[in-house]
Amino acid sequence: IVTRLADYRVPEFLIEKTQLTFELHEAHTDVSSQLTLVRNPQGSQAAHLELHGEQLELLTLAIDDRVLTSKDYRTTPQNLTIYNVPERFVLHCTTRIYPEKNTALEGLYRSSGMYCTQCEAEGFRKITYYLDRPDVMSEFETVIIADEGAFSTMLSNGNCVSDTVKDGKRIVHWHDPFKKPSYLFALVAGNLACLEDHFTTQSGRQVLLQIYTAAKDQDKCHFAMQSLKKAMRWDEQTYGREYDLDRFMIVAVDDFNMGAMENKGLNVFNTSCVLAHPASTTDAAFRRVEGVIGHEYFHNWSGNRVTCRDWFQLSLKEGLTVFRDSEFSADMNSRAVKRIEDANVIRSVQFVEDAGPMAHPVRPESYMEISNFYTVTIYEKGAEVVRMLANILGPTLYRQATDLYFSRFDGQAVTCDDFVQCMEEVSSKDLSQFRLWYSQAGTPHLQISDSYDAARQQYSLTIRQYTPATPGQTDKKALHIPFKIALYDNQAALPLVINGQNQGTETVLDICQDEQTIVFEQVTEPPIPSLLRGFSAPVKISYDYQLLQLQQLILLDNDGFCRWDAMQNLMRMVLSKTIDGANNHAEQAALIAVIKQLLTNHAMMDAALLACMLSLPNSPYLASLYEKADPVAISQARTQLQDQIAAELQTELLNCYQVLQDQTHGLTAPAMAARSLRNAALAYLLHIDEVRYRELAQQQFAQANNMTDQYAALCALVYAEHAEATAQEALAAFYQQWQHEALVVNMWFQVQATRPWGDVLQTVRKLLSHEAFDARNPNKLRAVIAAFASRNFAQFHDKSGQGYQFLAEQIADIDQRNPQMASRLLTPLTHWHQFTDAHAALMRAALESLTQRELSKDVYEVVSKSLH
Ligand code: ARG
Ligand code: ZN
Repeated sequence: IVTRLADYRVPEFLIEKTQLTFELHEAHTDVSSQLTLVRNPQGSQAAHLELHGEQLELLTLAIDDRVLTSKDYRTTPQNLTIYNVPERFVLHCTTRIYPEKNTALEGLYRSSGMYCTQCEAEGFRKITYYLDRPDVMSEFETVIIADEGAFSTMLSNGNCVSDTVKDGKRIVHWHDPFKKPSYLFALVAGNLACLEDHFTTQSGRQVLLQIYTAAKDQDKCHFAMQSLKKAMRWDEQTYGREYDLDRFMIVAVDDFNMGAMENKGLNVFNTSCVLAHPASTTDAAFRRVEGVIGHEYFHNWSGNRVTCRDWFQLSLKEGLTVFRDSEFSADMNSRAVKRIEDANVIRSVQFVEDAGPMAHPVRPESYMEISNFYTVTIYEKGAEVVRMLANILGPTLYRQATDLYFSRFDGQAVTCDDFVQCMEEVSSKDLSQFRLWYSQAGTPHLQISDSYDAARQQYSLTIRQYTPATPGQTDKKALHIPFKIALYDNQAALPLVINGQNQGTETVLDICQDEQTIVFEQVTEPPIPSLLRGFSAPVKISYDYQLLQLQQLILLDNDGFCRWDAMQNLMRMVLSKTIDGANNHAEQAALIAVIKQLLTNHAMMDAALLACMLSLPNSPYLASLYEKADPVAISQARTQLQDQIAAELQTELLNCYQVLQDQTHGLTAPAMAARSLRNAALAYLLHIDEVRYRELAQQQFAQANNMTDQYAALCALVYAEHAEATAQEALAAFYQQWQHEALVVNMWFQVQATRPWGDVLQTVRKLLSHEAFDARNPNKLRAVIAAFASRNFAQFHDKSGQGYQFLAEQIADIDQRNPQMASRLLTPLTHWHQFTDAHAALMRAALESLTQRELSKDVYEVVSKSLH
């Protein structure tokens, strides 16, 4: 049941042409396929053809004109083997499938009445027998047949060839001229409204842009359309990539396991990643829509035109595309804030994955179920690896390298190594050590120490790197780590002189050895090191900062990430001493003083950056700093510090809140920034048990003309420990107002599931039987169950262990219907090794209770690896 990279073999057959006909009926769908197969000259000349196929009812099977009988072939639950096939032939096959019974949301399924597909990674084999692997690329033609009048919209990839009615049936014929693997196939049929626009490419071609949704959501597509046009322009300008079909379609569906899918010319989106309206969507959700629209659009080149040879190369398309969407978002919004958000995800989610039982390299070597490898390591760490390459090469060479990559491999299915090879060729740099980032799992730790020699006016930094063992990889090699630094005095960054060479005020050190010392010359006083600027590599660093140094960096550093990181460091120092029961008066005083200074002068800096800087290090990140973390102590320390900051700085917080009031109108970047800072201040103020602050929140809740402010006020009230009655009123009003907007109802679920105090588990259980809850809808599962388990640290880790048991029960149930969702929800339990023995034992017990059940391959892989 394990698939290994080392076992990769080229396909025995190729499929030149794929012709599909779908007959959609109420209770079933018949799929007939005509596959033009030819033997692959590079194969091993196998006599038999082996196709993938799961949960299919085989109705007819023929080769050319010859109907096959049971002695010509054999089926298993996973395969169809046809014996002794010719060199070149057309395979005719009809299968019956049942989309209305498909609760796994993989293959062809129904969502709110419409038909849609999700084929990545291995869903196409639930539609028809096929060589369902990404290195088999074929030209697709699709015919969709349904009762006349049943669906207004019937879509597939590429261009529409004809749309006719005959004998009461509507027949729509699509053709995609670009060869593609089966995972990029898509079909949609439903009664949908469509927003249309046009885009003229840089070479002057007109592209029709269409966003399909339920009629009631049409007014929520304008932002996605604008984002799409921005993404199309950005990819032309930044990567020289132009769109290639006459038509680009997006369809929004309610039930979707992930965010969205880049099917050629026909992207399918979770409604949560495409619909947006100021009244019902927060600023953060707007940015997510822009980012995901960009991501899926960018896949047209990084993924579709150039695709992956096998699923071990998943990061080839995902890492590159996340890097591309991240830069797009940085260009459209605040670059510093985007970098902080990305670094925060790496640190608090990816580092945790990398330190646990599911740790795997960016290019894994084996898997049981590929769906389990759509991870933060493949996506976000993969993007960091591409970012490091881009930084090592610099903008000009990086662009030359991507141009080479796209032209050399256009229409092919290739490997991560092919990508790095292009980087190597154009730059003539030796990237052999760098390649370890793809094969070696685990997070490198950099231990940094320094010394200052006044007589020689020299400052030395010594950097030691070390990567802890991960499952199956015990001995780790030194990586090539681009380490960007600056040195500060009390006013500004100093010129950096290394070996007599002036490098300017910022430089990238190539850390390649287990231990390296760098000497800076002409340094007239001990400087403050500003380390890992821009989060230049996905590594952990430790350096023993003095309080004063951190304060200086917080106030002066011109790298947004480093300012934020210095603040996180200072906050962490306060929190860890609280957790350890040590005296932390000095740290507290330093922290309060510096926040006070920032708040008092908030007009001098980017409000969005300041808002980021005001949030405490999150609990998962704090937990990751311990050998055995006590989640209860971590949560308490955080609350205590929030109480204290609020109490000591209420004047400044309130002032900030009031002053920013008239800067928060509209969807402009400054207005969004002002809202984020103002709402951060409000959240702190609600830590103070005073009527006037509750009234402030109540007022904001009632008067807000945008969802960001309304929801922030609701969260502040719900999270406040002394506002129960007000919070309940607000919750009731919110539901009343928004009960017909599914995505807003999800936020209503989420705020209740993430409340840090009280008997939340009981609330969560009640929400599961609420009229608006639907256990088959992934967004609802995420809003209630994942919110509780992944985003409510205090409650999930209640020392009774009931949170863990609850999650295990839910997973066992969900696994019956939707294994991918069940497996994803399991993640928090896989982190048991991070916690004190008592918590770890309870978490393991919950995992063990699952082994008593009949599990899907998805859940089985995660449970068994976690308990190993
Ligand atoms: N390729 C999609 C994206 O990153 C993700 C789809 C993954 N689907 C899945 N069932 N694992 O945009
Ligand atoms: Zn993607």
